[in-house]
Amino acid sequence: MKDTPISKPQLDRLLRAAHKVMKNAYAPFSHFRVGAAILTAKGDVFLGCNVENSSYGMTNCAERTAIFSAIAQAGPKLSIRAVAVVNDHGVASSPCGACRQVIYEFGPDAIVVYPISKGLKTSHITELLPEGFRLRD
Ligand code: THU
Repeated sequence: MKDTPISKPQLDRLLRAAHKVMKNAYAPFSHFRVGAAILTAKGDVFLGCNVENSSYGMTNCAERTAIFSAIAQAGPKLSIRAVAVVNDHGVASSPCGACRQVIYEFGPDAIVVYPISKGLKTSHITELLPEGFRLRD
């Protein structure tokens, strides 16, 4: 597997889109709004925000919202090149474990980008999720 670098304009576009969709988050319990933007192999961008629930465990993270929305809109042949994640607390926040596994399903070579105190952190999904689960090789 090799890295799939994306251009600066593509990265800026993803981060801007993630910031915008973050404002749609439904986060009355944590007050922690998250926005995610995914870039597909076709060059399309899909967006998601976190959607919380009174039954806390039903909460859906921004990353999974973006991925599920992409599939709902464009079908199951999704290939993720990059995922950008931002939040409204200005803290470095990488995707949770569940989201890492879902990103890996559709982007085993994806890069994940999120702001940190000094700039951006870029990681390959397999750095975040070594030995992710697959049903077959
Ligand atoms: N959250 C995300 O949207 N993405 C993550 O990767 C981690 C956490 C959301 C879930 C919840 O609504 C809020 O952040 C606080 O945990």
